[in-house]
Amino acid sequence: MTETPPITALPDDTAYAEAVQLAVDSAAAYYADGTSTLDDDAYDRLVRGIQAYEEEHPESVLPSSPTGKVAGGAVVGDVPHTVPMLSLDNVFGAEQLADWAAGLERRLGRPVTVWSVEPKLDGLAISARYRHGRLAQLVTRGDGSAGEDVSHAIGTVVGLPDRLADAVTVELRGEVMMTTSQFEEACAKRTAHDGTTFANPRSAAAGTLRAQDRPYVCELTFFGYGALPAPGDESELAVGLREWPHSQIMEWVAAQGVQTTAATPVAGIVAETIDQVQGRVGEIAAARAQLPFGIDGIVIKCDLAADQAQAGFSSRAPRWAVAYKLPATEKITKLLAVEWNTGRTGVIAPRAVLEPVELDGSIVTYATLHNVADITRRGLMLGDSVTVYKAGDVIPRVEAPVVHLRTGEEQPIPIPEVCPMCGDEIDRSQERWRCVRGRDCQAIASVIYAVERDTLDIEGLAANRIKQMFETGLIADFADLFFLTREQLLALERMGETSTDNLLAAIEQAKTRPLSRVFAALGVRGTGRSMSRRIARHFATMDNIRAADAEAIQRVDGMGPEKAPVVVVELAGLAPLIDKLVRAGVNMTEPGATPPSDEPKAPSADLPLASMSVVVTGTMTGPLAALTRNEVNELIERAGGKSSSSVSAKTSLLVAGEKAGSKRAKAETLGVRIVSPEEFADQVSAFI
Ligand code: IVH
Repeated sequence: MTETPPITALPDDTAYAEAVQLAVDSAAAYYADGTSTLDDDAYDRLVRGIQAYEEEHPESVLPSSPTGKVAGGAVVGDVPHTVPMLSLDNVFGAEQLADWAAGLERRLGRPVTVWSVEPKLDGLAISARYRHGRLAQLVTRGDGSAGEDVSHAIGTVVGLPDRLADAVTVELRGEVMMTTSQFEEACAKRTAHDGTTFANPRSAAAGTLRAQDRPYVCELTFFGYGALPAPGDESELAVGLREWPHSQIMEWVAAQGVQTTAATPVAGIVAETIDQVQGRVGEIAAARAQLPFGIDGIVIKCDLAADQAQAGFSSRAPRWAVAYKLPATEKITKLLAVEWNTGRTGVIAPRAVLEPVELDGSIVTYATLHNVADITRRGLMLGDSVTVYKAGDVIPRVEAPVVHLRTGEEQPIPIPEVCPMCGDEIDRSQERWRCVRGRDCQAIASVIYAVERDTLDIEGLAANRIKQMFETGLIADFADLFFLTREQLLALERMGETSTDNLLAAIEQAKTRPLSRVFAALGVRGTGRSMSRRIARHFATMDNIRAADAEAIQRVDGMGPEKAPVVVVELAGLAPLIDKLVRAGVNMTEPGATPPSDEPKAPSADLPLASMSVVVTGTMTGPLAALTRNEVNELIERAGGKSSSSVSAKTSLLVAGEKAGSKRAKAETLGVRIVSPEEFADQVSAFI
């Protein structure tokens, strides 16, 4: 479902040697404190490039090469492991997974009996040694054969109890990481201490695990993924751990009071066929964005000890397991610029402009930066290399500068002196800066929003013209537009006869828009374009909407109990504006909608998309090419369907245009029907 990252091509021995050095340095930094100069994806590409070069030029292989070594050969630690802590081989998609499984089955000379499928936790491998039921020692993976003693962390790791349920001697293996809330807390503690933050949960966990003399303590989380008997132990348990299926071992681990992923939405399961494995891979991938901890893939293992024993190991990894890597959610890219905008509530928010980077299947060019204090705290500069995070439908965000990649050319980020929207003063009394005009500043922004193509669609009314109308006192809200006279417009600077007539015609035209667009233009808090359509269709007229109480509003599909009362309050506040629109003769009804009655609405079964949930992704072509995404969604709803922005098991249809990314991949793994924009246009042609 994901594509293999392209490899870094190496032309000659010099480039090869440089690549090896870069990989070695990067792995050392990564395993030491998570401060690598390469993100995971770039590291993977580099190592594949090295591998490819070594296959072509076996005589040039350097002893320091990271290929075939655990942790890329980054050696740390002096506590020998009883059984080596190995890596996993990677696959990057359904096809590669199937190839890998077929290869394994060829080696076995028979099908694998049962598979186990579990998340690949994005933290650090750890060995937890219990003696007579007490946690005695914690050791990092190190180079796989020896690790570092980090027993000082005992007592700070949630999910790793000091005592097991039984007084047994056993070694547990699993991943130490920070959950989202632990990460946030750790960042807050560190900020209070020295004004800095951690780059991401993984490096925060790495640093915290090693930190011995920090004046503050940060909590970590453990998830177990294996258990080993002590060498030579012939107790009943030891024999069991050598013979039980992996799934049974994990049940035993959980029964000892140790955390496993069993209680999470991505719990390990067993599967009989590679198709079922693939199905679970899709489910775990789909759940990823909502998880309170990071995963970077799915681990597929032979469940039975007999299958594992027959498959055996390579020097680096077991042959009976593989990591199905999910697209990276974090990468390093360049911060090119910072734009400042004032939102509808008057909050002034910075936005990062980035060198485009592919994250979780889509190209990211903009990312949120929170506020000025945050920029200062992180010490961000223009031109910095920054880590950027995005998963699923979350808004991409800049996490931290990669300070050791600075060149000296970086520049301070210009901070606005006045409101970037209206030029008035900034209220800096709180961390989130606001325009002193608060919501009134938004007045201009809300008119701009109200006349956009996807709302009232008043052609030729640009943002600077709206500002000019405000400055000259012609308008105070978008309803005033409908009362403008020809003389008033002609009196404006840079306004000729033709543009005046065109604008007046466009404004006249805007009076006929459906209620859904008029409602959206109001900018009611908590209702975007899609909710506005649902409200308009549900109530059919503005009068009905205004007569509705919170309970009635809540009956609109997707309207929650928190949002509904807000809508009622907002509408009351907007009454003068709505009245003015009515006086202007603006349409206040939704074509084709019937007002709510006590009778349940007959499902419009005759419509082509009746009771279907449809997601649109990628660039539209054919008859849909000229439509905005909002217009395509309107079309879906006119044809009786529900438009949604994310693919899930409930999705009936994915319309995938060119450059469709992660949504297409997710739909494929979930077995959702996928059609091209042209096929879809055919299906709904009567409604275009
Ligand atoms: S099994 C010998 N299961 O991934 C088998 N590993 O890239 C190796 N990891 O070193 C371990 N989640 O730190 C296994 N469910 C899981 C895992 C997992 C994360 C890590 C582990 C390992 C690395 C290999």
